[in-house]
Amino acid sequence: MKTLLALEGVNAFYGAAHILHGLSLHVSEGEKVALIGRNGVGKTTVVNTILGLASLKGGHVKIADRLLPRPRSYMAAQRGVAVVPQGRCIVANLTVEENLLLGAATGRKGHWTVPRVYELFPILRERAHTPGTALSGGQQQMLAVGRALMANPALILLDEPTEGLAPIIVDQLGVIFNQVAAQGTALLLIEQNMTLVARVAERYCAMAKGAVVAEGRVDDTGLDGLHRHVMV
Ligand SMILES: Nc1ncnc2c1ncn2[C@@H]1O[C@H](COP(=O)(O)OP(=O)(O)OP(=O)(O)O)[C@@H](O)[C@H]1O
Ligand SMILES: [Mg+2]
Repeated sequence: MKTLLALEGVNAFYGAAHILHGLSLHVSEGEKVALIGRNGVGKTTVVNTILGLASLKGGHVKIADRLLPRPRSYMAAQRGVAVVPQGRCIVANLTVEENLLLGAATGRKGHWTVPRVYELFPILRERAHTPGTALSGGQQQMLAVGRALMANPALILLDEPTEGLAPIIVDQLGVIFNQVAAQGTALLLIEQNMTLVARVAERYCAMAKGAVVAEGRVDDTGLDGLHRHVMV
């Protein structure tokens, strides 16, 4: 199986603050991996390092087997890694459809088009011409997922996509994530909701203090085993 994303011995900083300490993580084609850990352990910093928003000062980041000595956000997108950022980052003065089209900026072609995203999320078609930030929280999250799909990625990084959402919406998103994966896209799901992790992911990596400290198969570990990595 081809490795889509590889972080090896990564050290990453915000200014002088040393956040990731020799972190290693791999995601292969078609895999569904969860990245879990308590608040502040550095999960978002993993995403930020891949996007060049935290500085990489040791170790390697590889996307689709290409080494990125100085990662930048456009590089990830061009090489097939799309991000659904924590907090969604919907652009306020663009409509729903314009927000979706932003995701297509890399020009990568594939299964996902605006009509196909609308099939997946019919509510986005109904609201196509309203400002993106006029949507409810759950709908904005769907828009953020749709925007990532528009890049036709081989891998999507989802950073706490269910944070603050009602349980019924979380369940719907779980179904969607599995549909997206079934269509061939690999997922790296950063999540605090272990029930959702167990529904979606096959493998997990647990972080503590800026490094991956445990990994395994979700089925072997079970919900209690997963919870142990996120309990405060
Ligand atoms: N821009 C920044 N400058 C300096 N320190 C930062 C910055 N962003 C985050 N940090 C610090 O880096 C550490 C890791 O933060 P990060 O956001 O990666 O954690 P997280 O695991 O994503 O947490 P959460 O579950 O709350 O989203 C924290 O101690 C945080 O305070
Ligand atoms: Mg975070």
